[in-house]
Amino acid sequence: MNHGLDDVVVAETALSHVDGVAGRLVVRGHELEEIADCRFEAVLGLLWDGLTSRLWTEQAIHVALGVARLVAFERLVPAIAATDRLSSIEALRLLLTTLADADTAPHHVLAVAAVPVFVAAIARRREGHAPIMPDASLGQAADFLRMLRSEHAPAEHVRALETYLVTVADHGLNASTFTARVIASTRAGLLSSVVGALCALKGPLHGGAPGPVLDMLDAIGDFDNIRPWLKEALTHEERLMGFGHRVYRVRDPRADVLKATASALRAGSNRIRFAEAVEAEAIALLARHRPGRRLDTNVEFYTALVLEALAIPRDSFTNVFAMGRVAGWTAHVLEQERIDRLIRPQSRYVGPAPQHPIAA
Ligand code: SDX
Repeated sequence: MNHGLDDVVVAETALSHVDGVAGRLVVRGHELEEIADCRFEAVLGLLWDGLTSRLWTEQAIHVALGVARLVAFERLVPAIAATDRLSSIEALRLLLTTLADADTAPHHVLAVAAVPVFVAAIARRREGHAPIMPDASLGQAADFLRMLRSEHAPAEHVRALETYLVTVADHGLNASTFTARVIASTRAGLLSSVVGALCALKGPLHGGAPGPVLDMLDAIGDFDNIRPWLKEALTHEERLMGFGHRVYRVRDPRADVLKATASALRAGSNRIRFAEAVEAEAIALLARHRPGRRLDTNVEFYTALVLEALAIPRDSFTNVFAMGRVAGWTAHVLEQERIDRLIRPQSRYVGPAPQHPIAA
């Protein structure tokens, strides 16, 4: 039984292609490296192109997202208090459920706009601060950092966050995107599909790894302890966060894009040198740990360094991942809704035989 559906093709998509052998990510015909410096709103337009009844230019998306962030803020205010006993991603899960199918804003725009509003408010509430109202004139990344910090972020921080959001925006049929497509195939609606996708992203085998990458770096502590710590972890069959991938059999191309972003943000800091040393040792030890399986750096390793450099709280890292990936989720839902075929695979029954044999 192929429990992980490894290499099983279950959909056709024009959105993105993950070439695991060559280590390439193509989004709407563009190599990742071509679009990494684009604005997030421009990549949204690329992903949504042809999937809705109207033309979404970058400027139209910028304006629509600003208006929708204000709508999301209205939904946030009465509900934020109910998130106090929840983890950050559970809080985001709850707040996304306040978005109703009856909401008149285009749901793909509302879903993308709501995530940064909710993520910033959740992070601020954990620090005892009130949410900050969106500024509809700003771009998504700039407004998120402003809502998080209560002041405008420097341009290099906005650029770094945009690069991250673009880099993780879409990635083939990963677990959360597949979840979104299954839910969309029942005609449940885009907003419910996004809630389900977020639930899948929560897991450490998918989107929950960036925070634990920093936990690992902190636990290792210093250069002398890199090899002993990693060897000990692998001896106990622990998974090294930020390494390995179901599809990539070589280095995840997003790792180098984000390594460059992290290095630019932390120019000359010891943190990058330390992370590079951990990365090199981990790859070498993983090669001996599983000789038959290439386990290289995935997107999460340098994601952790970028988000840490932007002073985003560690327990918000997966929520910030969702800020980018919601672009892909909405596009895949729109693509699935055009197919309009219920996804319903078969299973092989291996339970006890019934008393009366099943008719052949
Ligand atoms: C992303 O699918 C996507 O596109 C995901 C993603 C996206 O953009 O949506 O790219 C996001 O990459 C998230 C991955 C973040 N998670 C981590 O970094 C957690 C650590 N990584 C692993 O748990 C693992 O590599 C997975 C989950 C990412 C992939 O797992 P697979 O393909 O199921 O690999 P596997 O379990 O079959 O591994 C093969 C062997 C196993 O040993 P055996 O069970 O065969 O004895 O390699 C081992 C694994 O134990 N292994 C690792 C390891 N990854 C795999 N051992 C130690 N450390 C690791 N990181």
